[in-house]
Amino acid sequence: MIPVFVPNIGEEEIAAVADAIRRGEISGSFGESIPRFEEAFADYCGCKFGVAVSSGTAALHLAVATLELKPGDEVLVSASTNIASALAAYHNNLVPIPVDSEPRTWNLNLDLIEKLITPRTRAIIPVHLFGHPIDMERVCEIARKHNLIVIEDCAESHGATFRDRKTGSFGDMGCFSFYANKIITTGEGGMITTNSAKLAEKLKLLRNLAFTTPRFRHELAGYNFRMTGYQAAMGLVQINRIEKIIADKIRVARTYDRFLSNVPGLQLPAPATDGRHVYWMYGVVVQPEFRISRDDLLARLHDAGIDTRTFFCPMNLQPALQQQPGFRPVKCPVAESLWRTGFYLPSSPTLPDKIIREIAEAISAVTDESRTKIRA
Ligand SMILES: Cc1ncc(COP(=O)(O)O)c(C=O)c1O
Repeated sequence: MIPVFVPNIGEEEIAAVADAIRRGEISGSFGESIPRFEEAFADYCGCKFGVAVSSGTAALHLAVATLELKPGDEVLVSASTNIASALAAYHNNLVPIPVDSEPRTWNLNLDLIEKLITPRTRAIIPVHLFGHPIDMERVCEIARKHNLIVIEDCAESHGATFRDRKTGSFGDMGCFSFYANKIITTGEGGMITTNSAKLAEKLKLLRNLAFTTPRFRHELAGYNFRMTGYQAAMGLVQINRIEKIIADKIRVARTYDRFLSNVPGLQLPAPATDGRHVYWMYGVVVQPEFRISRDDLLARLHDAGIDTRTFFCPMNLQPALQQQPGFRPVKCPVAESLWRTGFYLPSSPTLPDKIIREIAEAISAVTDESRTKIRA
């Protein structure tokens, strides 16, 4: 089976982790690797501060926790994304309100944001879906007008830019994931970027059970969201390799574009119009003209040894969120259609062009066959 993703880890990462363990950089409170990784990652993003945590979900949860909002306050989130940004609101007793997607880029539709704002709206968490950068200047402009905090979900967009600025450097905070399938990985892990010294300090306090002095007497209810030292050591190797990984992601996307652009009935990823798309995963939407449903296509690809994933179930359809007091039944027709018709293809940066060609040929053969059957 060609997997959707193979983590890109080499001998250098293995040596760095082993060395960190030998130096005693085990838990999250020891050694130099964590502050060094935080500094290197923040620098890469063009931000003043980085705060390393245990996952992307923890990054989002902690970022929202620093805002100290009132229970029942509302947070706008992308409808089509991983549930983590909505859960960051949910677990802080806030109500996530989904913003429907935009059909070209699959990111949240900026024209819908203001229609969803109520006197209870306090923050917005847009995601740069599959590595496609959102127009963050417009997001921040709307947020300023309505006094909203902006937390970028950059779990899929390390290194993506909008007008030459990296994602994660526009909002009050940017949240990254280093899960195994992300652009760079530490196994599990996450990072919050910010330009605010005050927020960075609060994030560091809350990630470490809010220890102050005297030790073991706590003014704030914190969390243990610490990253381990050896994960940070691996992150330091990965951040040095990130531009090569992104160049390979872009190569994979361009190669799919080349082989799939003539297949009728497939919507391919829109290029970024004003920045750099990093193609975390290569998404495809199956249109009626393809003549075969998305699910039938994925079953055929599975039989041919090609692994795929569907797009995300939109937040307005999540049973876990529908049960929450204050849930608003917002309609998200575009995100719902993406959930029924979208999927992503194997997207490892090491995927050879020859295999990409074979995958494209397998897709093309499915639709050709159905057309021949219809004609016969
Ligand atoms: C957009 C998005 N946000 C958040 C997360 C959560 O990150 P993690 O798995 O590191 O908790 C993920 C993926 O895993 C994601 O794709």
